[in-house]
Amino acid sequence: MSIVTAADVEAAGGRLLLRPGQRLTPLARDRAKELGVEIVEAGTAAPAAPTGSPTPPHAAPVPPAKDISASASPPGATAAASESARPFAPLVSGAMYRRNGLGPQGRAIGRDDANGGAPRPRAGVVGAGHVGAMAALRLAESNLFDHVAIVDVVPGLAAGLALDMWHGAGLYGFSTPLSGSDELSALRGCDYIIITAGKPRQPGMTRTDLTAGNAAIMKSVCEGIRQHAPDATLVVVSNPLEEMTHLAAQYTGFAQSRVLGMAGVLDSARFCSLVGLTGKARPQDVRALALGSHGPEMVIPLSQAFVGSKHIESVLDASTLSAIVERTRESGGEVVKLLKKGSAYFSPAESAAAMVRIMASGSNEVIAACVRPQGAYGLTDARVGLPVRLDRRGLKEVVQLPLRPDELQALREAAARIAQRIDELAQLPSTPGVAAPAASAA
Ligand code: 2OP
Repeated sequence: MSIVTAADVEAAGGRLLLRPGQRLTPLARDRAKELGVEIVEAGTAAPAAPTGSPTPPHAAPVPPAKDISASASPPGATAAASESARPFAPLVSGAMYRRNGLGPQGRAIGRDDANGGAPRPRAGVVGAGHVGAMAALRLAESNLFDHVAIVDVVPGLAAGLALDMWHGAGLYGFSTPLSGSDELSALRGCDYIIITAGKPRQPGMTRTDLTAGNAAIMKSVCEGIRQHAPDATLVVVSNPLEEMTHLAAQYTGFAQSRVLGMAGVLDSARFCSLVGLTGKARPQDVRALALGSHGPEMVIPLSQAFVGSKHIESVLDASTLSAIVERTRESGGEVVKLLKKGSAYFSPAESAAAMVRIMASGSNEVIAACVRPQGAYGLTDARVGLPVRLDRRGLKEVVQLPLRPDELQALREAAARIAQRIDELAQLPSTPGVAAPAASAA
């Protein structure tokens, strides 16, 4: 008699041929159920696999049953090739469950107090570049999510990074299962999805230089999201930010409140960190909101900026503040220039993850996000960075702050400039099906 182990099941792909005298271990049986691997007993047509849960969304497509007793790998096959085609899903088992490890199907067990005992939401990240990978890790570390699914078009990249993160789970202190796949179907059932897919800027490029190429990528990603995660709330990171956020709303057809652009959290954090460089305050003691656009039309209303409980203008002089605001606007480009290849990722990733954590935990804090104004600040233009509160499903409300007249004017000018750029999207060949936004829609 020979034993068939969980590792054999994982290596078998979609179906595993059990020869007379071979026996599955309990773990192998669990693994077959988790990955949706059919166990076919030699000489019987019907699969002997336990029925139970459907094939997990990120399971590999079902290849022909593999005879694991075959000694040599088929000629030309390489471990790397077979590995890269297979997504990673953490090994879960009844044994681990009994030892209070991971629940069935790789679910982090236990209840989440912030959810009032409700099951944890599922998060997804599209794009496993630096920003996406870091954001996925930060979501997993929060232990707020039942699962974090990473998707990237490069075969094996998301799966490899998910496995690498999982290897560090004990060190990082999280139990959130992660999975990686090159199929958008792996986003099935996600409540939140961070979209980082698209090319980053290179030195000398403006964010708008990315529009045509990233618009086409956004279209294919959003078609997959609409099909597999129709109830998700989106946090868009791809640049140019306002245009990509607008396209995500257009291409998914999701309610505007469920399509958020991430820029203000990043730019606000950059402003606070640059104030920290003056030595007059720690970044975490500074409060400010970067509104308007994620670019030249960025508006940082100093009337709403504080160091502790003090107005920032009583702590730093006007010329220092003006220089900090200008440097904040240019911070993305400053990092791109230093890196020479690619753009920033630690702070963008944490900014996007922070927005998802705020929604998942029901925190009521005011942050800056790129949203439709809903008439706030007298704005009816397309999409702009505004002070908002989020709830578990997305935008809860735009927060009206008492801006000074010059700050309000700058915000309105930013909204108008963004609306103009969004109108120009319709002229791009790569944005078929993009209706010019209704001019007066709020
Ligand atoms: C930045 O400002 C990538 O847009 C991002 O760094």
